[in-house]
Amino acid sequence: MTSVLLTGCGSLVTNNASHGDGSRLGLVADGALVIDGDRVGWLGSRRDAPPADAVVDLGGRAVVPGFVDAHSHLVFAGDRAEEFAARMAGEPYTAGGIASTVTATRAASDEELAATVTRLVAEMTRQGTTTVEVKSGYGLTVIDEARSLAIAGRVTPETTYLGAHVVPAEYADDVAGYVDLVTGPMLDACAPYARWVDVFCEQGAFDADAARTVLSAGMRAGLQARIHANQLGHGPGVQLACELGAAAADHCTYLHDADVDALAQSGVVATLLPGVEFSTRSPYPDAQRLLAAGVTVALATDCNPGSCYTSSMPLCIALAVREMGMSPAQALWAATAGGAAALRRDDVGHLGVGARADLVVLDAPSYLHLAYRPGVPLAHAVWRAGHQVA
Ligand code: NIG
Ligand code: FE
Repeated sequence: MTSVLLTGCGSLVTNNASHGDGSRLGLVADGALVIDGDRVGWLGSRRDAPPADAVVDLGGRAVVPGFVDAHSHLVFAGDRAEEFAARMAGEPYTAGGIASTVTATRAASDEELAATVTRLVAEMTRQGTTTVEVKSGYGLTVIDEARSLAIAGRVTPETTYLGAHVVPAEYADDVAGYVDLVTGPMLDACAPYARWVDVFCEQGAFDADAARTVLSAGMRAGLQARIHANQLGHGPGVQLACELGAAAADHCTYLHDADVDALAQSGVVATLLPGVEFSTRSPYPDAQRLLAAGVTVALATDCNPGSCYTSSMPLCIALAVREMGMSPAQALWAATAGGAAALRRDDVGHLGVGARADLVVLDAPSYLHLAYRPGVPLAHAVWRAGHQVA
């Protein structure tokens, strides 16, 4: 096993309060870190660094944990740029646009879908994402959902069965029949390829009863629950997530006080997706209200062709700081450790001894630049599981 010493880190974010300045980010000034195989073997002050097989001097650049993007929809064909342009001209976003992506996805070959997934994951990697969750949800037939998940599984173990994204046109008059399909033969075909089950609980998609049925069936099949909740208006999704002990409730744009309390009590992670509000010209969720109540907050891209076609976690951090009132430290924590919590992972999202060696070297002296320099490609180098991947 070879070891690499990264030294000369201007500042090193560990997300471990026992390191460095004792803050939640565990910031080590003038730090160093040893990668041993695929893990972090040592970290601390540069002057205490042990010897290693290879040494890389980062020249004062900042190091942060690799971003954990806990919500994306990368398996699709086509794009909806015209729909985006119409929204910017005043049209509202509705769940209905999903149908056009479903048509294009069904018509695409496995190779075309896989090429899109590979391209988008490469785009994410170049921007510092080292863990990504990928959903199905644009196939909505047994075969198309199962192949979507098989393709997603080539790039990540964090695959999510979202057969209950919307009711496809052929079931428009038989929602119960579609829920039977999603919880029956489609689940049987998809469960072997999925870790998670998700449902879009919203006006125009699935109501609370249908969503409960879908998530419960998935959990009985061994999948863990997560949910699209309270995106377009107030609704039952967040409460359902808390009732079922889901890992995360995603979007959380419209919340009553009781929803915030339920998230805080249950420990369900609230995954905020500010790129969606940016791309749909919608009001942003109130991150400070969640943080003040003690809710664990994650940030993710929601990369998809409809509501938000960005793959950039740094953009989401910048939006969270500028538009949702998060401090740069809160936003970085949410984009790393928060995402790991949303995926129930303790090996990623932080840099401690034994953690997976996933990190981003920034072309900047401090993580503050992620929000301070929006739109600038700051990822100088990216390491995943001990390998330099960008
Ligand atoms: O997370 N909300 C549901 N699904 C996606 C959007 C899907 C689409 O518009 O294609 C989302 O925003
Ligand atoms: Fe989504």
